[in-house]
Amino acid sequence: IYEDADRACGFVADAIERLLRERQSQGKSAVLGLATGSTPVRLYRELIRRHREEGLSFANVVTFNLDEYYGLEGTHPESYRRFMQDQLFDHVDLDPEKTHVPDGTVEREDVFASCRRYEEKIEEVGGIDIQILGIGRTGHIGFNEPGSGPESRTRLVTLDTLTRRDAARDFLGEENVPRHAITMGVGTILDARVVYLLAWGDSKAGVISESVEGQPSASIPASFLQLHKDCVFCVDGGAASQLT
Ligand code: F6R
Repeated sequence: IYEDADRACGFVADAIERLLRERQSQGKSAVLGLATGSTPVRLYRELIRRHREEGLSFANVVTFNLDEYYGLEGTHPESYRRFMQDQLFDHVDLDPEKTHVPDGTVEREDVFASCRRYEEKIEEVGGIDIQILGIGRTGHIGFNEPGSGPESRTRLVTLDTLTRRDAARDFLGEENVPRHAITMGVGTILDARVVYLLAWGDSKAGVISESVEGQPSASIPASFLQLHKDCVFCVDGGAASQLT
C-alpha cells in the first residue's frame, strides 16, 4: 500500500528498469505485458521520463498488450493500439515491429486463429517477464469479465454492462462502446513470470478487497491472481480502504 500512485508507479518502474538493464547487459530481450486505461498512465509517464533523462532503453523490449476492442481499427482514437502509441510507444525507442496489440479488425471466422497466433507469439519470445494490470469494477483483468476461468486463453469476449458504462465517457455515449473485445485469458496472464496489478482510488476498494481477501472464483477473475506465485497488488490508500 503506497502513499500515492506516483510512489507505487516508481516501485514498478524500478522493477521494469532492473529487468531491462539486466537483459540488455546479457544481450537478450525483455518481454513486457501491458495494460491500457487510466491506471498505468503515470507508470508509462515515469518510464518515458527515465528514457529521456536517464537513458533507459527499450530497444531490446518486446511488448504484448492485454486487449483490444473488437471492431476498432488501430487508428481509431479509442483503440488500445492508438492509446499505447500515444501514452508510451511513440515516446521511447521501442521497435514498432516488437509491439503487439490484439487485432480488433479480424473477421469473425479468423478470430480463433488470430488469438491462437497471439499466444504462440508470446511463447516464441519465451513468455512474458513482467505483466502490468489494472482492474475493472467488475473484477476483470484484461477484459476477462466475471465467468472467466483460470484456464482461459486469448479469445473474443462480450463486455459487461458495467464495463461498457465505465467506458461511455471516452466513447461519448454508452451506445458507441463496442460490445466485444479480444483479450488475453486469465491463464495467459497467470503464465507471466511476475505480475503487478495497479489500482488507485476508492472506486476500486471493493473489488480490491474481494480479489485479495475473497476465495478465488470466476465471479471476480482478478481473485485468480492469488494462485500466482509472484504477483504484487500495488495500491494507494483509497484502493486499500476496504482491506481488513
Ligand atoms: C485495459 C484493461 C482493463 C483495465 C481496467 C481498469 O487494458 O485490460 O482491465 O485495466 O478496466 O481501467 P482503468 O485503469 O481505466 O480504471
